[in-house]
Amino acid sequence: MRYQSQSVAYWYFAVAMVLFGLQLVFGLLSAAKYLGPDPLLNILPFDVTKVIHTNLLIVWVLTGFMGATYWMVPDESRSELHSTKLAYIQLGLWVVMGVSAIIGYLFRYGTGNKLLEQPLPHKIVIVICMLIFLYNIGMTIKKSGRFTTTEGVLLLGLASAAVLYLPALLHYENYTVSIYYRWWTIHLWVEGVWEMIQGGFLAYLLIRLSGADREVMEKWLYVIVGLVFIAGILGTAHHYYWVGVPGYWLPIGGFFSALEPVALVGMAMYAYYAMRRSGLAHPNKLALHWTLGSAVFTLFGAGLLGFAHTFPSVNKWTHGTLITAMHGHAAFYGAYAMIVMAMIVYALPLLTRGREEEGGTIGYWAFWLQLAGMFGMTLSFATAGIGQVYLERILGMGYLDTQLKIQIHFLMLVATASIFATGVGLFIYDFFRHPRRVEVETDEVRPTSAPARHVL
Ligand code: HEM
Ligand code: HEM
Ligand SMILES: [Fe+2]
Repeated sequence: MRYQSQSVAYWYFAVAMVLFGLQLVFGLLSAAKYLGPDPLLNILPFDVTKVIHTNLLIVWVLTGFMGATYWMVPDESRSELHSTKLAYIQLGLWVVMGVSAIIGYLFRYGTGNKLLEQPLPHKIVIVICMLIFLYNIGMTIKKSGRFTTTEGVLLLGLASAAVLYLPALLHYENYTVSIYYRWWTIHLWVEGVWEMIQGGFLAYLLIRLSGADREVMEKWLYVIVGLVFIAGILGTAHHYYWVGVPGYWLPIGGFFSALEPVALVGMAMYAYYAMRRSGLAHPNKLALHWTLGSAVFTLFGAGLLGFAHTFPSVNKWTHGTLITAMHGHAAFYGAYAMIVMAMIVYALPLLTRGREEEGGTIGYWAFWLQLAGMFGMTLSFATAGIGQVYLERILGMGYLDTQLKIQIHFLMLVATASIFATGVGLFIYDFFRHPRRVEVETDEVRPTSAPARHVL
């Protein structure tokens, strides 16, 4: 690293890794329950394991975003962070919030609002952490006097993500009203402002890894962000089909959300062309894998598999089934888990000692096992989901009878998820294998003989 304060990113990434591992434990527990009698029914029923699984996901991905921002902003603004102390206080508060929320879920302490189950005190702490974070980053940029478009897009994404969390603090008695506003947070996060965050990291990585021209990359970043907004905002209506709101949302949701994949095609092409132009000169090939992988897997998971059920005529049958889980896994993984791992793999040779910059064998196994495993998991959810929709929604078979018929697909889910979890296990092992580096980078401590010009 070029700035001492960038080392705070290490601890954010370390926390993210631990929570990622824990997320998978609860994912596997949730999947196992589909296979037969549940010995843990009275202690850890499905609703509890699933809430913990999805909340850990959101918390670790956000922790990763914060760490990656603390890594990236000093590089972009060419300055130390405003305050490392604040960054550590923020992390401490954040961890206490996350851990106590999980313990609370074990005792059914939560709001029951899907993905936003955090109780009010926890939500307030989340807001405080975001404010500390944005203040720290804002002050860093202000003091440095250098503000790039790439970090502008990232910051706008992070600040908007904080603002869009505010509707989640309110409580509505009426379920339709509650669900209506819930999507202002969830949909506008994942199909709006989080894509700006992903776009910011992607541009940073592509500029650094491919040496692509900053001006060209940033111009395209504007185009992609513009496309996300044109389609994403009114695309919210693809969640308004069956929730008790007026019927005019059906054509609006169908039309605008069907345009959303255009931005994702743009993003994948943007990444691919940047790589091709560069001739793949940067030594950190593993980070290139994760970066390009994120752009392509997003196109698959969010673009293609989102499009697959976004029209009202299809969603009428598939809403809330395992088809949703199919898309939710592939999209979340490609867009947000992979981009966080891309940032980690890029930063790690500079954050730790004795690590080869090209990425070692374990790193490549971690990448390919995760990719193969997640692809298999997506297919397992898809086959189970198609069966479920047909038997339950079209033939009218009861929910539980249907579950028995599709049980076989959960064997495949557990098998492929085990491959995926092995990949994640290797990634985590690889992360902690090397000790943390504290000194700033000089030519002598560069991990390989890579020419310094790659670090723009
Ligand atoms: C990175 C981007 C995306 C992520 C992370 C993502 C993730 C998710 C998740 C987690 C859900 C379940 C939400 C819930 O029920 O609470 C969901 C639902 C949905 N997504 Fe996405 N999504 C993304 C992009 C897209 C795109 C681009 C489309 C359409 C082209 C799309 C279409 C849908 C639809 C129609 C549903 C509702 C499913 C239902 O009715 O049960 N998504 N998405
Ligand atoms: C060992 C790996 C994993 C297993 C076995 C697993 C299993 C499951 C299961 C069984 C569910 C409940 C589905 C239902 O409601 O019926 C679920 C939900 C979910 N998981 Fe995972 N999961 C794993 C990893 C992941 C990863 C890596 C991500 C994201 C990067 C993820 C994101 C989600 C999301 C967003 C939901 C909610 C989907 C919805 O609302 O329909 N999971 N998972
Ligand atoms: Fe959506």
